[in-house]
Amino acid sequence: MEYETPLFFHVMQYAKRADRDVIDMVSGNPDWEPPQALRDGLHEYADLEPEQFQYPPSEGLLELREEIAARRGVDAEQVVITNGAGEANYLAMARALERDRGNEVILTDPVYPYYPGKTTMLGGTQRFVATDDEGQLDPADVREAASEETAAIVVNSPNNPTGAVYPEETVRELVAVAEEYDAILVSDEVYDHFDLSGEFSSALEFDSDHRIVTNAYSKSMAITGVRVGYAIFPPHLVENAKSRHMLVNVATTRPGQYAVLQALRETGPDYYEANRDLLRERVVTFTDALDAAGAEYTTPKGSFYVMARFDGYPGTLENVERLIDEAGVAGMPGEAFGDSRTAWLRFALVTPRVEEAAERLATYFD
Ligand SMILES: Cc1ncc(COP(=O)(O)O)c(C=O)c1O
Repeated sequence: MEYETPLFFHVMQYAKRADRDVIDMVSGNPDWEPPQALRDGLHEYADLEPEQFQYPPSEGLLELREEIAARRGVDAEQVVITNGAGEANYLAMARALERDRGNEVILTDPVYPYYPGKTTMLGGTQRFVATDDEGQLDPADVREAASEETAAIVVNSPNNPTGAVYPEETVRELVAVAEEYDAILVSDEVYDHFDLSGEFSSALEFDSDHRIVTNAYSKSMAITGVRVGYAIFPPHLVENAKSRHMLVNVATTRPGQYAVLQALRETGPDYYEANRDLLRERVVTFTDALDAAGAEYTTPKGSFYVMARFDGYPGTLENVERLIDEAGVAGMPGEAFGDSRTAWLRFALVTPRVEEAAERLATYFD
């Protein structure tokens, strides 16, 4: 079996090697501060007793699992603390495929590229369902694609790369489709704190034995390097997932879990609101400049990303490299996200230089 290295790394490296100043709009690394309590937690950790530097319980620190369970209205037994949302998605997809109820994973197009990559790695096959121009998914299309071969339906809202936020009816229906076909809905909600529309609905709102919710603190606390996330499983699916997590990882980082727990307890809603406000401002700045450049674009309802289309400049890897060399702006090629956005480029708004980047693009495409 051959695995593909995500294209993302290639573009990052190309931008790094460039012989000029490049504004990075490739990565999903927030450029703003983590919560103060997160920093305090990490400082404090350095002075703890040696036993605190040893293995934590594999499924995660009990206090953190209890804190998450209380916030999400589930039992702590259902919560596995993972190495970010990435591992949570892997565990969820693996759990769905190992039920032997089928081998197909329904994904959206456009898609977050790690999902098709994980599907291949886990021996499944992908079946893509197109979203509309705004990135909205019609559950009727998912129902049509579903069959007894469907092991999982993997969705992400707020969405990377489209910025779509699925309304309550969509999420409810997706859970219903998973139930009808005895499949598992995997709902990746890693951008839940970046719902700019107020329309976000978590799959946890719909009680079901057929859905797994994944999440992480990577984006919400601006700590993609700390590696703390979680998955919430239905009770009858959780044991195997814990075993897989133990066999693959042993556990995830203990200092990270400690600091996240502290930050969860001490960080108020104003921290998250301030970051959303910052993003809202950046969306306006960037899309105003795209207007000036005569580009077509999507205005995100959530997450960090704007997709843009410049006339006669399709979103190929080659064009992305040209944009790095000639305009000094690095984005992601639309072709990385499936077949439906090959004409588009994706820009991440996690740089303080959004305005400058927009000006560079406007000048370049003038
Ligand atoms: C949709 C989506 N899921 C998962 C991840 C990975 O999250 P983590 O860093 O917590 O593993 C990302 C990162 O960009 C993402 O965009």
